[in-house]
Amino acid sequence: MRAAGALSLSLVAVEDDVIIGHVALSPVVIQDAVGDWFGLGPLSVEPGRRRRGIGARLVDTAIARLRARGAAGCVLLGDPAYYRRFGFVSDPALRYGDEASPYLQYLRLSGRAAKGQVSYHPAFDAG
Ligand SMILES: CC(C)(COP(=O)(O)OP(=O)(O)OC[C@H]1O[C@@H](n2cnc3c(N)ncnc32)[C@H](O)[C@@H]1OP(=O)(O)O)[C@@H](O)C(=O)NCCC(=O)NCCS
Repeated sequence: MRAAGALSLSLVAVEDDVIIGHVALSPVVIQDAVGDWFGLGPLSVEPGRRRRGIGARLVDTAIARLRARGAAGCVLLGDPAYYRRFGFVSDPALRYGDEASPYLQYLRLSGRAAKGQVSYHPAFDAG
C-alpha cells in the first residue's frame, strides 16, 4: 500500500524501542459520499500489551489526524463492541460487498453521512 501511495497514515506505538502496536489509514471510495473518506485498519496491539489503552490511543490519534486534514469521515470493518466507544456506528445504507453488516461502521467527521457501497484499495483484496 505504501508503494502504491495508498497508505494515508501508518502509526506505531513504541515501548522500549520495540513496536508494540500499529494502525493504518487508507483512502476508500464510497458510492454516494461527499469529501474524503478513509478506512481505518488494520489495528493491532501485541498480545502481551493489550488492555492498557494502547489501541484506544492509536485510534484516537488516527481520528485526530483525519479531523486535522479535514476528512469527511472514516469507515472500518471490526467488532462494534470495541469501536462504538470511539463513536463508530453502523448503518444498513452503507454496504461492503453484497450485504449490509453490523461490522461495517463509520464515523462522520464533517459533512453528511456516507451511504452506498464502500470500496477499499485493491491491496485489501490481494492474497
Ligand atoms: C483490538 C485491539 C487492537 C485492542 O487493543 P488494546 O490496546 O487492548 O485496546 P484498549 O486497551 O484501548 O482497549 C481494551 C478494551 O477493549 C476490549 N476489546 C478488545 N477487543 C475487543 C473486541 N473484539 N470486542 C469487544 N471488546 C474488545 C477489551 O476487552 C478491553 O476492555 P476493557 O477496557 O473493558 O478491559 C487488540 O485487542 C488486538 O490487537 N486484537 C487483535 C487484532 C484485532 O482484532 N484488531 C482489530 C481488527 S478490526
